[in-house]
Amino acid sequence: MKRIVIYWSSTGNTESMAERIASDLGCDAINVSNISVDDVSTYDEVILGCPAMGAEELEDDEFKPFYDEFIANYSDKKIGLFGSYGWGDGEWMRNWEEDVKSKGGALVASIIANGDASEMDESLYQDFLNKLNS
Ligand SMILES: Cc1cc2nc3c(=O)[nH]c(=O)nc-3n(C[C@H](O)[C@H](O)[C@H](O)COP(=O)(O)O)c2cc1C
Repeated sequence: MKRIVIYWSSTGNTESMAERIASDLGCDAINVSNISVDDVSTYDEVILGCPAMGAEELEDDEFKPFYDEFIANYSDKKIGLFGSYGWGDGEWMRNWEEDVKSKGGALVASIIANGDASEMDESLYQDFLNKLNS
């Protein structure tokens, strides 16, 4: 299966998750600023990462436009989601999951971390990897 991790990160927490996920899945992690939506056409599985920004929202300058174009064109891909958050309770991820599903996206798994990659719940993380690998 051909897969890729695409992420946005300001202070490096989501980037650290991207690197760990890509390493464990054996694929590349690429910053969203270095890829266009059309580039994902050849991948079977796309794993997207963005932290909670705004008020429980996706980062709206770079990542949200990418995601909106992606989901409008490639909702048939297997999709994984991840990201870091701070003071909230993960609401942005619940909203994001609902958005993917409402647009017909094949959501496979998601994982969040309250901080960097070391803050992921290990059993939830193994479950996330297993789902993406199956
Ligand atoms: C402008 C801004 C808005 C944020 N909004 C939220 C939020 O709504 N909920 C939340 O839990 N954390 C929020 N945070 C905290 C970030 O999600 C958190 O610091 C995260 O680890 C940043 O990830 P990064 O290091 O990948 O950029 C916000 C941070 C910033 C700078």
